[in-house]
Amino acid sequence: MKQIVLFLAIAGLYVAATNAEHKVVCYYDFASDLREGVGRLTTKQLEAALPYCSHLVYGYMIMYGDNYQVHSYGEVDEVDIRQQYFAEIKSFKQKYPELKVLLSVGGDRDIDVGYPRKYIELLEATQEKQKKFIESAHWLVEYYGFDGLDLAYQFPRNKPRKIHGVVGSFVKSFKKIFTGNEVVDPDADKHKQQFTRLVSDLHDKLHHDGYLLSLTVLPNVNSTWYFDIPKLNKLVDFVNLGTFDFYTPERNPEEADYSAPLFYDNSEDRLPHNNVKFQTEYWNNQGFPAKKLNVGIPTHGNVWQLTDDSGNTGIPIVHHTAGPAPPSPLTNKHGLLSAPEICKLLTLPGIDVKMDKEAHITHSTLGHYGYLPAEGKSRGLWVGYDDIDTVTKKAEFALVYAGGVALFHLGHDDYLGVCAKVSYPILRSINQTFQDTINVKLI
Ligand SMILES: *[C@@H]1O[C@H](CO)[C@@H](O)[C@H](O)[C@H]1NC(C)=O
Ligand SMILES: *[C@@H]1O[C@H](CO)[C@@H](O)[C@H](O)[C@H]1NC(C)=O
Repeated sequence: MKQIVLFLAIAGLYVAATNAEHKVVCYYDFASDLREGVGRLTTKQLEAALPYCSHLVYGYMIMYGDNYQVHSYGEVDEVDIRQQYFAEIKSFKQKYPELKVLLSVGGDRDIDVGYPRKYIELLEATQEKQKKFIESAHWLVEYYGFDGLDLAYQFPRNKPRKIHGVVGSFVKSFKKIFTGNEVVDPDADKHKQQFTRLVSDLHDKLHHDGYLLSLTVLPNVNSTWYFDIPKLNKLVDFVNLGTFDFYTPERNPEEADYSAPLFYDNSEDRLPHNNVKFQTEYWNNQGFPAKKLNVGIPTHGNVWQLTDDSGNTGIPIVHHTAGPAPPSPLTNKHGLLSAPEICKLLTLPGIDVKMDKEAHITHSTLGHYGYLPAEGKSRGLWVGYDDIDTVTKKAEFALVYAGGVALFHLGHDDYLGVCAKVSYPILRSINQTFQDTINVKLI
Protein backbone atom coordinates (compact mmCIF):
# COMPACT_ATOMS: atom_id res chain seq x y z
CA MET A 1 0.00 0.00 0.00
CA LYS A 2 2.77 2.46 0.93
CA GLN A 3 4.37 1.70 -2.36
CA ILE A 4 1.25 2.65 -4.28
CA VAL A 5 0.85 5.94 -2.44
CA LEU A 6 4.44 6.74 -3.22
CA PHE A 7 4.07 5.76 -6.84
CA LEU A 8 1.00 7.92 -7.27
CA ALA A 9 2.54 10.82 -5.39
CA ILE A 10 5.56 10.74 -7.66
CA ALA A 11 3.32 10.70 -10.66
CA GLY A 12 1.58 13.78 -9.28
CA LEU A 13 -1.74 12.38 -10.31
CA TYR A 14 -2.93 11.09 -7.00
CA VAL A 15 -6.43 12.54 -7.10
CA ALA A 16 -7.15 11.65 -10.70
CA ALA A 17 -6.04 8.11 -10.08
CA THR A 18 -8.19 7.38 -7.09
CA ASN A 19 -11.36 6.91 -9.00
CA ALA A 20 -13.29 3.71 -8.57
CA GLU A 21 -14.26 3.46 -12.22
CA HIS A 22 -11.30 1.38 -13.30
CA LYS A 23 -11.91 -1.26 -15.88
CA VAL A 24 -10.74 -4.81 -15.63
CA VAL A 25 -11.39 -6.24 -19.06
CA CYS A 26 -11.08 -10.01 -18.94
CA TYR A 27 -10.50 -11.94 -22.14
CA TYR A 28 -11.97 -15.36 -22.38
CA ASP A 29 -10.79 -17.38 -25.33
CA PHE A 30 -13.56 -19.76 -26.24
CA ALA A 31 -11.05 -22.13 -27.84
CA SER A 32 -9.48 -22.69 -24.43
CA ASP A 33 -12.76 -24.28 -23.47
CA LEU A 34 -12.43 -26.81 -26.24
CA ARG A 35 -9.08 -28.08 -25.00
CA GLU A 36 -9.15 -31.51 -23.56
CA GLY A 37 -8.26 -32.56 -20.04
CA VAL A 38 -6.50 -30.29 -17.55
CA GLY A 39 -6.32 -27.36 -19.90
CA ARG A 40 -10.04 -27.06 -20.11
CA LEU A 41 -11.49 -23.89 -18.67
CA THR A 42 -15.17 -24.52 -18.18
CA THR A 43 -17.81 -21.86 -17.86
CA LYS A 44 -18.14 -22.90 -14.21
CA GLN A 45 -14.49 -22.02 -13.63
CA LEU A 46 -14.91 -18.93 -15.71
CA GLU A 47 -17.60 -17.77 -13.36
CA ALA A 48 -15.14 -17.63 -10.46
CA ALA A 49 -13.34 -14.83 -12.30
CA LEU A 50 -16.36 -12.66 -12.90
CA PRO A 51 -16.53 -10.86 -9.54
CA TYR A 52 -13.15 -9.36 -10.44
CA CYS A 53 -13.93 -8.35 -14.01
CA SER A 54 -15.79 -5.24 -15.10
CA HIS A 55 -15.94 -6.52 -18.68
CA LEU A 56 -15.75 -9.95 -20.20
CA VAL A 57 -14.55 -10.16 -23.78
CA TYR A 58 -15.67 -13.39 -25.30
CA GLY A 59 -13.35 -14.38 -28.11
CA TYR A 60 -13.17 -15.00 -30.89
CA MET A 61 -15.63 -14.83 -33.70
CA ILE A 62 -14.10 -15.24 -37.10
CA MET A 63 -14.96 -13.99 -40.54
CA TYR A 64 -15.63 -15.89 -43.75
CA GLY A 65 -13.10 -14.82 -46.35
CA ASP A 66 -15.48 -15.03 -49.28
CA ASN A 67 -18.46 -13.06 -48.00
CA TYR A 68 -17.17 -11.28 -44.86
CA GLN A 69 -19.83 -12.75 -42.62
CA VAL A 70 -18.92 -13.07 -38.98
CA HIS A 71 -19.50 -16.43 -37.34
CA SER A 72 -18.33 -18.44 -34.36
CA TYR A 73 -14.93 -20.07 -34.10
CA GLY A 74 -15.03 -23.77 -34.89
CA GLU A 75 -17.04 -25.51 -37.52
CA VAL A 76 -20.57 -26.77 -37.65
CA ASP A 77 -20.17 -29.62 -35.15
CA GLU A 78 -19.33 -27.11 -32.46
CA VAL A 79 -22.46 -25.09 -32.97
CA ASP A 80 -24.30 -26.85 -30.18
CA ILE A 81 -21.50 -26.24 -27.71
CA ARG A 82 -21.45 -22.63 -28.76
CA GLN A 83 -25.18 -22.23 -28.26
CA GLN A 84 -24.84 -23.72 -24.83
CA TYR A 85 -21.98 -21.42 -23.88
CA PHE A 86 -23.71 -18.37 -25.19
CA ALA A 87 -26.72 -19.29 -23.08
CA GLU A 88 -24.48 -19.65 -20.02
CA ILE A 89 -22.78 -16.36 -20.71
CA LYS A 90 -26.18 -14.78 -20.90
CA SER A 91 -27.04 -16.21 -17.49
CA PHE A 92 -23.87 -14.64 -16.06
CA LYS A 93 -25.24 -11.30 -17.04
CA GLN A 94 -28.26 -11.85 -14.85
CA LYS A 95 -26.07 -12.92 -11.94
CA TYR A 96 -23.59 -10.10 -12.36
CA PRO A 97 -25.64 -7.15 -13.56
CA GLU A 98 -22.63 -4.81 -13.49
CA LEU A 99 -20.64 -7.03 -15.82
CA LYS A 100 -20.53 -6.03 -19.48
CA VAL A 101 -20.00 -8.86 -21.93
CA LEU A 102 -18.60 -8.19 -25.38
CA LEU A 103 -18.22 -10.48 -28.32
CA SER A 104 -14.84 -10.20 -30.02
CA VAL A 105 -14.12 -10.63 -33.72
CA GLY A 106 -10.67 -11.45 -35.08
CA GLY A 107 -7.76 -12.06 -32.79
CA ASP A 108 -4.84 -14.30 -33.52
CA ARG A 109 -7.03 -17.30 -33.95
CA ASP A 110 -8.61 -16.30 -37.21
CA ILE A 111 -5.82 -17.55 -39.43
CA ASP A 112 -7.32 -18.52 -42.75
CA VAL A 113 -5.05 -20.24 -45.26
CA GLY A 114 -7.66 -19.80 -47.98
CA TYR A 115 -7.94 -16.06 -47.37
CA PRO A 116 -4.76 -14.89 -45.68
CA ARG A 117 -5.48 -11.22 -46.53
CA LYS A 118 -9.19 -11.24 -45.76
CA TYR A 119 -9.06 -8.48 -43.15
CA ILE A 120 -7.23 -6.21 -45.59
CA GLU A 121 -9.62 -7.24 -48.34
CA LEU A 122 -12.55 -6.28 -46.16
CA LEU A 123 -11.05 -2.80 -45.79
CA GLU A 124 -10.67 -2.51 -49.54
CA ALA A 125 -14.15 -3.90 -50.25
CA THR A 126 -17.18 -1.86 -51.24
CA GLN A 127 -19.40 -0.47 -48.52
CA GLU A 128 -22.06 -2.88 -49.71
CA LYS A 129 -19.80 -5.83 -48.91
CA GLN A 130 -18.71 -4.34 -45.61
CA LYS A 131 -22.35 -4.19 -44.68
CA LYS A 132 -22.33 -8.02 -44.52
CA PHE A 133 -19.60 -7.89 -41.92
CA ILE A 134 -21.31 -5.19 -39.90
CA GLU A 135 -24.74 -6.73 -40.03
CA SER A 136 -23.64 -10.24 -39.17
CA ALA A 137 -21.60 -8.96 -36.22
CA HIS A 138 -24.52 -6.87 -35.03
CA TRP A 139 -26.82 -9.85 -35.40
CA LEU A 140 -24.63 -12.09 -33.20
CA VAL A 141 -24.44 -9.44 -30.51
CA GLU A 142 -28.17 -8.92 -30.55
CA TYR A 143 -29.25 -12.54 -30.90
CA TYR A 144 -27.06 -13.85 -28.09
CA GLY A 145 -27.68 -10.90 -25.82
CA PHE A 146 -24.19 -9.43 -25.58
CA ASP A 147 -23.57 -5.84 -24.49
CA GLY A 148 -21.42 -4.99 -27.44
CA LEU A 149 -18.69 -5.84 -29.89
CA ASP A 150 -14.93 -5.84 -29.59
CA LEU A 151 -12.97 -5.59 -32.79
CA ALA A 152 -9.60 -7.37 -32.58
CA TYR A 153 -8.74 -6.48 -36.15
CA GLN A 154 -5.95 -8.33 -37.87
CA PHE A 155 -3.43 -6.03 -39.47
CA PRO A 156 -0.01 -6.89 -40.86
CA ARG A 157 2.42 -7.07 -37.93
CA ASN A 158 5.57 -5.07 -37.76
CA LYS A 159 8.59 -7.15 -38.65
CA PRO A 160 10.63 -8.60 -35.84
CA ARG A 161 14.27 -7.72 -35.70
CA LYS A 162 16.17 -10.13 -37.80
CA ILE A 163 19.67 -11.19 -37.15
CA HIS A 164 21.75 -12.10 -40.15
CA GLY A 165 25.22 -13.49 -40.18
CA VAL A 166 27.41 -11.21 -42.24
CA VAL A 167 29.02 -13.21 -44.97
CA GLY A 168 32.74 -12.73 -45.37
CA SER A 169 33.22 -11.02 -42.08
CA PHE A 170 36.50 -12.00 -40.54
CA VAL A 171 34.92 -11.79 -37.11
CA LYS A 172 33.08 -15.04 -37.53
CA SER A 173 30.39 -14.50 -34.91
CA PHE A 174 29.63 -10.92 -35.92
CA LYS A 175 25.97 -10.49 -36.71
CA LYS A 176 24.06 -7.57 -38.03
CA ILE A 177 20.76 -6.69 -36.40
CA PHE A 178 18.02 -5.24 -38.51
CA THR A 179 15.68 -3.23 -36.39
CA GLY A 180 12.37 -4.33 -37.85
CA ASN A 181 11.51 -0.86 -39.16
CA GLU A 182 10.93 -2.08 -42.69
CA VAL A 183 7.70 -1.19 -44.42
CA VAL A 184 5.34 -4.16 -44.20
CA ASP A 185 2.35 -2.51 -45.85
CA PRO A 186 2.96 0.10 -48.55
CA ASP A 187 -0.76 0.96 -48.47
CA ALA A 188 -0.95 1.45 -44.74
CA ASP A 189 -2.17 5.05 -45.09
CA LYS A 190 -5.04 3.98 -47.27
CA HIS A 191 -5.89 1.08 -44.98
CA LYS A 192 -5.91 3.41 -42.01
CA GLN A 193 -8.56 5.61 -43.65
CA GLN A 194 -10.59 2.60 -44.70
CA PHE A 195 -10.44 1.15 -41.22
CA THR A 196 -11.68 4.41 -39.73
CA ARG A 197 -14.64 4.37 -42.10
CA LEU A 198 -15.44 0.75 -41.27
CA VAL A 199 -15.33 1.50 -37.55
CA SER A 200 -17.52 4.53 -38.14
CA ASP A 201 -20.16 2.41 -39.89
CA LEU A 202 -19.92 -0.22 -37.16
CA HIS A 203 -20.31 2.48 -34.55
CA ASP A 204 -23.43 3.84 -36.25
CA LYS A 205 -25.02 0.43 -36.38
CA LEU A 206 -24.13 -0.61 -32.83
CA HIS A 207 -24.61 2.64 -30.98
CA HIS A 208 -27.98 3.08 -32.59
CA ASP A 209 -29.09 0.09 -30.52
CA GLY A 210 -27.14 1.05 -27.42
CA TYR A 211 -24.33 -1.49 -27.85
CA LEU A 212 -20.73 -0.90 -26.84
CA LEU A 213 -17.88 -0.93 -29.33
CA SER A 214 -14.27 -1.47 -28.30
CA LEU A 215 -11.04 -2.11 -30.16
CA THR A 216 -8.29 -4.54 -29.33
CA VAL A 217 -4.89 -3.60 -30.69
CA LEU A 218 -3.22 -6.94 -31.29
CA PRO A 219 0.43 -7.37 -30.30
CA ASN A 220 2.94 -6.02 -32.80
CA VAL A 221 0.36 -4.12 -34.81
CA ASN A 222 1.83 -0.67 -35.21
CA SER A 223 -0.75 1.89 -34.07
CA THR A 224 0.97 4.64 -36.03
CA TRP A 225 0.17 2.88 -39.27
CA TYR A 226 -3.42 1.76 -38.78
CA PHE A 227 -5.19 3.79 -36.14
CA ASP A 228 -6.43 7.31 -36.74
CA ILE A 229 -6.56 7.90 -33.03
CA PRO A 230 -8.34 11.30 -32.85
CA LYS A 231 -11.12 10.05 -35.12
CA LEU A 232 -11.44 6.69 -33.38
CA ASN A 233 -11.85 8.50 -30.10
CA LYS A 234 -15.27 9.67 -31.27
CA LEU A 235 -16.28 6.17 -32.39
CA VAL A 236 -15.28 3.66 -29.73
CA ASP A 237 -16.02 3.27 -26.05
CA PHE A 238 -12.56 2.06 -25.13
CA VAL A 239 -9.39 0.51 -26.51
CA ASN A 240 -7.52 -2.52 -25.17
CA LEU A 241 -3.83 -2.46 -25.94
CA GLY A 242 -2.14 -5.79 -26.63
CA THR A 243 1.02 -4.63 -24.88
CA PHE A 244 2.79 -7.97 -24.71
CA ASP A 245 4.56 -10.46 -26.98
CA PHE A 246 6.90 -7.71 -28.15
CA TYR A 247 9.40 -10.54 -28.11
CA THR A 248 8.43 -14.12 -28.79
CA PRO A 249 10.45 -17.22 -29.66
CA GLU A 250 8.51 -17.46 -32.91
CA ARG A 251 9.27 -13.91 -34.00
CA ASN A 252 12.71 -13.72 -32.44
CA PRO A 253 14.05 -17.28 -32.47
CA GLU A 254 17.68 -16.23 -32.10
CA GLU A 255 17.44 -13.99 -29.05
CA ALA A 256 15.41 -14.09 -25.86
CA ASP A 257 14.21 -10.99 -24.07
CA TYR A 258 11.43 -9.74 -21.82
CA SER A 259 8.20 -10.09 -23.77
CA ALA A 260 6.22 -7.31 -22.14
CA PRO A 261 8.45 -4.79 -20.35
CA LEU A 262 6.69 -1.89 -18.68
CA PHE A 263 9.44 0.62 -19.45
CA TYR A 264 12.08 1.18 -22.07
CA ASP A 265 15.46 0.03 -20.95
CA ASN A 266 18.20 1.14 -23.30
CA SER A 267 21.04 -0.65 -21.59
CA GLU A 268 20.71 -3.19 -24.37
CA ASP A 269 19.98 -2.74 -28.01
CA ARG A 270 16.19 -2.61 -27.71
CA LEU A 271 13.56 -0.86 -29.80
CA PRO A 272 12.10 2.17 -28.00
CA HIS A 273 8.48 1.38 -28.85
CA ASN A 274 8.48 -2.20 -27.56
CA ASN A 275 7.15 -1.52 -24.09
CA VAL A 276 3.89 -0.82 -22.29
CA LYS A 277 4.65 2.78 -21.43
CA PHE A 278 5.47 3.84 -24.97
CA GLN A 279 2.33 2.27 -26.40
CA THR A 280 0.04 3.72 -23.75
CA GLU A 281 1.53 7.19 -23.99
CA TYR A 282 1.42 7.04 -27.75
CA TRP A 283 -2.38 6.71 -27.76
CA ASN A 284 -2.70 9.29 -25.07
CA ASN A 285 -0.43 11.78 -26.85
CA GLN A 286 -2.49 11.40 -30.00
CA GLY A 287 -5.48 12.68 -28.09
CA PHE A 288 -7.05 9.51 -26.81
CA PRO A 289 -8.26 9.97 -23.22
CA ALA A 290 -6.37 7.88 -20.68
CA LYS A 291 -9.58 6.75 -19.03
CA LYS A 292 -10.64 4.97 -22.24
CA LEU A 293 -7.36 3.04 -22.54
CA ASN A 294 -6.76 -0.36 -21.00
CA VAL A 295 -3.25 -1.67 -20.57
CA GLY A 296 -2.82 -5.27 -21.73
CA ILE A 297 -1.40 -7.74 -19.22
CA PRO A 298 -0.54 -11.28 -20.35
CA THR A 299 -1.08 -14.38 -18.23
CA HIS A 300 1.33 -16.46 -20.29
CA GLY A 301 5.09 -16.51 -20.59
CA ASN A 302 7.36 -17.15 -23.55
CA VAL A 303 9.94 -19.91 -23.51
CA TRP A 304 13.06 -20.16 -25.63
CA GLN A 305 15.49 -23.03 -25.89
CA LEU A 306 19.05 -22.18 -24.97
CA THR A 307 22.14 -23.53 -26.65
CA ASP A 308 25.69 -23.87 -25.37
CA ASP A 309 26.44 -20.52 -26.96
CA SER A 310 23.70 -18.74 -25.00
CA GLY A 311 26.00 -18.50 -22.00
CA ASN A 312 24.95 -19.19 -18.46
CA THR A 313 24.13 -15.80 -16.98
CA GLY A 314 20.55 -15.77 -18.30
CA ILE A 315 20.63 -11.98 -18.40
CA PRO A 316 18.54 -10.72 -21.31
CA ILE A 317 19.04 -10.09 -24.13
CA VAL A 318 20.15 -13.74 -24.34
CA HIS A 319 21.76 -14.51 -27.69
CA HIS A 320 22.18 -17.69 -29.70
CA THR A 321 18.87 -19.14 -28.61
CA ALA A 322 17.28 -21.97 -30.57
CA GLY A 323 13.67 -20.87 -31.04
CA PRO A 324 10.57 -21.91 -29.12
CA ALA A 325 10.53 -24.63 -26.49
CA PRO A 326 8.38 -27.66 -27.37
CA PRO A 327 4.67 -27.35 -26.59
CA SER A 328 3.42 -28.00 -23.08
CA PRO A 329 0.50 -30.35 -22.45
CA LEU A 330 -1.72 -27.54 -21.19
CA THR A 331 -1.33 -24.82 -23.78
CA ASN A 332 -0.15 -27.08 -26.56
CA LYS A 333 1.65 -24.20 -28.23
CA HIS A 334 5.33 -23.96 -29.04
CA GLY A 335 7.20 -21.56 -26.79
CA LEU A 336 4.22 -20.61 -24.65
CA LEU A 337 3.43 -21.50 -21.05
CA SER A 338 0.50 -20.50 -18.88
CA ALA A 339 1.03 -18.92 -15.47
CA PRO A 340 0.52 -22.14 -13.47
CA GLU A 341 2.86 -24.02 -15.78
CA ILE A 342 5.58 -21.44 -15.28
CA CYS A 343 5.00 -21.54 -11.56
CA LYS A 344 5.40 -25.32 -11.60
CA LEU A 345 8.40 -25.21 -13.86
CA LEU A 346 10.20 -22.85 -11.52
CA THR A 347 9.32 -24.41 -8.20
CA LEU A 348 8.16 -27.98 -8.34
CA PRO A 349 10.33 -31.06 -8.38
CA GLY A 350 9.37 -33.86 -10.69
CA ILE A 351 8.78 -32.04 -13.94
CA ASP A 352 12.46 -31.75 -14.60
CA VAL A 353 14.60 -32.38 -11.56
CA LYS A 354 17.61 -30.81 -13.14
CA MET A 355 15.60 -27.73 -13.85
CA ASP A 356 14.42 -27.57 -10.28
CA LYS A 357 17.92 -27.81 -8.89
CA GLU A 358 19.53 -25.44 -11.29
CA ALA A 359 16.91 -22.96 -12.37
CA HIS A 360 17.77 -19.39 -11.54
CA ILE A 361 15.02 -16.93 -10.89
CA THR A 362 15.62 -13.26 -11.27
CA HIS A 363 13.47 -10.21 -10.63
CA SER A 364 13.39 -7.05 -12.60
CA THR A 365 11.07 -4.13 -13.31
CA LEU A 366 11.02 -5.19 -16.93
CA GLY A 367 9.53 -8.58 -16.17
CA HIS A 368 10.66 -11.78 -14.59
CA TYR A 369 12.59 -14.67 -15.98
CA GLY A 370 13.74 -18.10 -15.04
CA TYR A 371 16.31 -20.09 -16.92
CA LEU A 372 18.30 -23.24 -17.08
CA PRO A 373 21.57 -23.14 -19.02
CA ALA A 374 22.21 -25.73 -21.71
CA GLU A 375 24.44 -28.53 -20.66
CA GLY A 376 26.29 -30.64 -23.16
CA LYS A 377 23.79 -31.94 -25.64
CA SER A 378 20.71 -31.00 -23.62
CA ARG A 379 19.16 -27.68 -24.42
CA GLY A 380 18.49 -25.12 -21.72
CA LEU A 381 15.40 -22.97 -21.23
CA TRP A 382 14.71 -19.31 -20.77
CA VAL A 383 11.22 -18.23 -19.74
CA GLY A 384 10.13 -14.60 -19.50
CA TYR A 385 6.86 -13.82 -17.75
CA ASP A 386 4.91 -11.38 -15.61
CA ASP A 387 4.90 -12.41 -11.99
CA ILE A 388 2.52 -10.88 -9.42
CA ASP A 389 5.08 -8.13 -8.72
CA THR A 390 5.20 -7.11 -12.34
CA VAL A 391 1.43 -7.33 -12.71
CA THR A 392 1.00 -5.11 -9.66
CA LYS A 393 3.39 -2.54 -11.11
CA LYS A 394 1.47 -2.59 -14.37
CA ALA A 395 -1.86 -2.19 -12.59
CA GLU A 396 -0.42 0.78 -10.67
CA PHE A 397 0.80 2.21 -13.94
CA ALA A 398 -2.65 1.71 -15.46
CA LEU A 399 -4.26 3.63 -12.60
CA VAL A 400 -2.25 6.68 -13.54
CA TYR A 401 -1.78 6.48 -17.29
CA ALA A 402 -4.85 4.56 -18.41
CA GLY A 403 -8.39 3.69 -17.41
CA GLY A 404 -7.77 0.10 -16.44
CA VAL A 405 -6.26 -3.14 -17.59
CA ALA A 406 -7.09 -5.81 -20.12
CA LEU A 407 -6.14 -9.32 -19.06
CA PHE A 408 -5.12 -11.68 -21.90
CA HIS A 409 -6.51 -14.18 -21.05
CA LEU A 410 -8.29 -15.91 -18.21
CA GLY A 411 -7.51 -19.40 -19.50
CA HIS A 412 -3.79 -18.91 -18.88
CA ASP A 413 -4.14 -17.57 -15.36
CA ASP A 414 -4.01 -20.19 -12.62
CA TYR A 415 -7.78 -20.53 -12.65
CA LEU A 416 -7.72 -23.69 -10.56
CA GLY A 417 -5.27 -22.31 -8.03
CA VAL A 418 -2.99 -25.32 -8.48
CA CYS A 419 0.12 -23.30 -7.85
CA ALA A 420 -1.06 -20.21 -6.05
CA LYS A 421 -3.55 -21.98 -3.75
CA VAL A 422 -6.09 -19.40 -4.78
CA SER A 423 -7.81 -19.27 -8.14
CA TYR A 424 -6.93 -16.53 -10.66
CA PRO A 425 -3.95 -15.09 -8.75
CA ILE A 426 -3.05 -12.63 -11.51
CA LEU A 427 -6.58 -11.35 -11.88
CA ARG A 428 -6.95 -11.07 -8.12
CA SER A 429 -3.73 -9.12 -7.79
CA ILE A 430 -5.09 -6.53 -10.21
CA ASN A 431 -8.27 -6.25 -8.18
CA GLN A 432 -6.19 -5.95 -5.01
CA THR A 433 -4.06 -3.18 -6.46
CA PHE A 434 -7.13 -1.24 -7.53
CA GLN A 435 -8.82 -1.94 -4.21
CA ASP A 436 -5.81 -0.70 -2.23
CA THR A 437 -5.81 2.53 -4.13
CA ILE A 438 -9.46 3.14 -3.45
CA ASN A 439 -8.85 2.42 0.22
CA VAL A 440 -6.05 4.96 0.24
CA LYS A 441 -8.55 7.54 -0.89
CA LEU A 442 -10.94 6.68 1.91
CA ILE A 443 -8.35 6.96 4.67
C1 LIG B 1 -12.52 -6.24 -6.40
O1 LIG B 1 -13.29 -7.38 -6.19
C2 LIG B 1 -14.36 -7.19 -5.30
C3 LIG B 1 -14.96 -8.54 -5.04
O2 LIG B 1 -15.60 -9.01 -6.15
C4 LIG B 1 -15.33 -6.21 -5.90
O3 LIG B 1 -16.42 -6.00 -5.01
C5 LIG B 1 -14.63 -4.90 -6.15
O4 LIG B 1 -15.48 -4.02 -6.82
C6 LIG B 1 -13.38 -5.11 -6.96
N1 LIG B 1 -12.62 -3.87 -6.93
C7 LIG B 1 -12.29 -3.20 -7.99
C8 LIG B 1 -11.58 -1.93 -7.75
O5 LIG B 1 -12.54 -3.58 -9.12
C1 LIG C 1 5.64 2.17 -35.56
O1 LIG C 1 6.89 1.83 -36.16
C2 LIG C 1 7.83 2.88 -36.25
C3 LIG C 1 9.06 2.35 -36.90
O2 LIG C 1 8.80 1.79 -38.12
C4 LIG C 1 8.15 3.41 -34.89
O3 LIG C 1 9.03 4.51 -34.97
C5 LIG C 1 6.87 3.84 -34.18
O4 LIG C 1 7.16 4.24 -32.88
C6 LIG C 1 5.89 2.67 -34.16
N1 LIG C 1 4.67 3.12 -33.51
C7 LIG C 1 4.17 2.50 -32.46
C8 LIG C 1 2.93 3.09 -31.87
O5 LIG C 1 4.66 1.53 -31.95
